[in-house]
Amino acid sequence: MRIIIFGPPGAGKGTQAKKVAEHFGIIHLSTGKMFRDAINEGTELGKIVKFIIDEGQLVPDQTVVDMVEETIAGEEYKKGYIIDGFPRTVEQAVAFDNMLERRNEAVDAFISLYAPDDELIQRLLARGEGRSDDTEEKIKTRLEVYKKETAPVMEHYQQAGLFRSVDGTGTVDEIFQRILSAMPEK
Ligand code: AP5
Ligand code: MG
Repeated sequence: MRIIIFGPPGAGKGTQAKKVAEHFGIIHLSTGKMFRDAINEGTELGKIVKFIIDEGQLVPDQTVVDMVEETIAGEEYKKGYIIDGFPRTVEQAVAFDNMLERRNEAVDAFISLYAPDDELIQRLLARGEGRSDDTEEKIKTRLEVYKKETAPVMEHYQQAGLFRSVDGTGTVDEIFQRILSAMPEK
């Protein structure tokens, strides 16, 4: 089972992906977390992406695509995964389609979480994990980047018949139940 969880910054992708992964016994793969880990570990990749992430901009498509391709080639990803934070541009979505096709695999569901901007901003300002991009200024940039570069990805999955829109407001458990209800029948 391969699921994409999608939505603007603060929509609850990470929170819900963790629960979905536990529920189905699949891996939670977060490209943002992979980059933050690389920065903390001071790897070559971390050095390349640090400034971009601090600014709330997007890492170049090819860098992300290569990282995802290498990651999902791992044996433990065979049983499935929920990917959070990718694809984030239409170019990444096309590259992901091609990558999966080469592997004889496909996406089962694209879950898109939505919530109003003021709630997203409140959540991110309250998160308190010390993320360099959780300042008021960087949150504003991230929301702009989302609207301009990332939101068009929804159309790509609508055309593929995989798009499921889920209300991302309410309690974490309410949203989780909505996600389970939005999953395609197996
Ligand atoms: P990424 O890590 O993906 O960050 P993001 O998209 O900005 O999203 P967040 O992680 O901030 O929010 P979330 O939707 O996961 O919400 P969460 O569950 O934490 O990317 C970071 C950066 O990495 C990007 O800006 C970019 O530079 C780079 N990057 C990553 N992937 C890339 C790609 N594919 N291409 C290019 N660049 C890439 O929830 C937020 C807060 O709200 C938490 O505190 C949570 O506890 C709380 N919360 C959750 N649900 C609820 C609820 N129902 N009610 C109240 N509070 C809630
Ligand atoms: Mg997240």
